[in-house]
Amino acid sequence: MVKKDLGTAFTPQNIGKVKIENRIVRSATYLSLATEDGQITDDLIKRYEELAEGGVGLTITGVSTVREDGKQLAKMMHNFSDDYLEGLTNLAGAYHDKTKEIGNNSKIFLQVGHCGKQTTHWGWQGELISSSDIENKVINKMPKKLSVKEIEEIVKLFAEATERAKKAGFDGVQFHGAHGYLINQFYSPYMNNREGDKYGGSIENRAKFTVEILKESQKKVGNMFPINLKMNGYDGVKGGLEPNEASELAIIFAKEGFNSLEISSYIHEASLNVKIPSLPPECQINVRQRGLEAFNLKSAAQIKEKLKQTASTNIPIILVGGIYRLEKINEIIDSTGIEFCSMCRPLIRQPNLPKLWRNGPPSPEAECIHCNQCMNEVLRKGPKCQGVRCIQKEKEERKRKKA
Ligand SMILES: Cc1cc2nc3c(=O)[nH]c(=O)nc-3n(C[C@H](O)[C@H](O)[C@H](O)COP(=O)(O)O)c2cc1C
Ligand code: SF4
Repeated sequence: MVKKDLGTAFTPQNIGKVKIENRIVRSATYLSLATEDGQITDDLIKRYEELAEGGVGLTITGVSTVREDGKQLAKMMHNFSDDYLEGLTNLAGAYHDKTKEIGNNSKIFLQVGHCGKQTTHWGWQGELISSSDIENKVINKMPKKLSVKEIEEIVKLFAEATERAKKAGFDGVQFHGAHGYLINQFYSPYMNNREGDKYGGSIENRAKFTVEILKESQKKVGNMFPINLKMNGYDGVKGGLEPNEASELAIIFAKEGFNSLEISSYIHEASLNVKIPSLPPECQINVRQRGLEAFNLKSAAQIKEKLKQTASTNIPIILVGGIYRLEKINEIIDSTGIEFCSMCRPLIRQPNLPKLWRNGPPSPEAECIHCNQCMNEVLRKGPKCQGVRCIQKEKEERKRKKA
């Protein structure tokens, strides 16, 4: 029995046809624990079992790439042929077995994406692709502008990856359409300057790549299998996507049939602005000290308000970024109608945080201090990183042992 004073956060809510037992989501988190050629490992599975046990309503996995040139970091999951099906099946199966064992019914969606021109020196080093031939100013590389035929091929790859997720036993998929990656490179007015075809110009045209991925995927998996999107509420660069246009996009995506939208922010070029000091900028640093709790709330609430205006577009919204208190989650859900709150870094440090909260009150704040050492480690070490983990906690433990 859930105690009443834990609030709406511990009540169920559907995404499409799938019931999610509570409103706390693990936001997609790349863990650098696949093999160098993208296969699932036991260490990776173990991390997901911990999350299943930890009591989130829904886990969204780290991104799995639909093609080799879509990989931006080392030891990232691949999802571009049936060679990866067995590993993906083992991952989904282990997660479900764990939830059955403890009876919490937590669900797992596979995240699917392509980095486009936003790779790093640990990722794809060949020719970069994008909606347009506009330089990536973080790495000073010019991508090739995709032809219509090449776009259609990538759409097909996303649909096949979705079908593979379903075959593997995941409860749904989420496309990574935020943070400046390929999908974002199509709908953003800053990254898409195509002219003369259906993928550039108007907002409807810039949304087309995403919508075609959705439609092709729906053909493969039907409408019982939730298809979801993580998108930006703003790009954080001059001339980029702003919340007003993001709300219009959200309406298009909801009308076309996405089952939920997770609202995030920033493209990597935003980190060139000194006022946005974190790399990657979607992981804002020192959230508490800088007063950045729930830093995407304003844009997500605006999008929710717009979606609410028509029953048919009122799909669930997941808010991500700088969330660390149960009290705040309840306040957000109750005051805005946003259905879910997701966390990444707090659950790297404490995969059992939802269980701790559920066993409350008291419901302590997350221990994560948003220092980004977990991310810096993987950016610094690449394939030598022993998996994304809480470096701060390791430091604290070493200090305690010494004392
Ligand atoms: C180590 C690490 C890996 C991440 N991997 C992904 C990913 O695979 N896909 C994605 O959409 N976002 C990824 N993110 C971004 C998070 O999902 C989230 O949007 C961001 O960290 C803000 O949430 P937080 O404040 O709760 O950490 C990652 C973030 C970190 C720190
Ligand atoms: S290193 Fe630990 S405390 Fe720092 S952001 Fe990562 S999970 Fe949070």
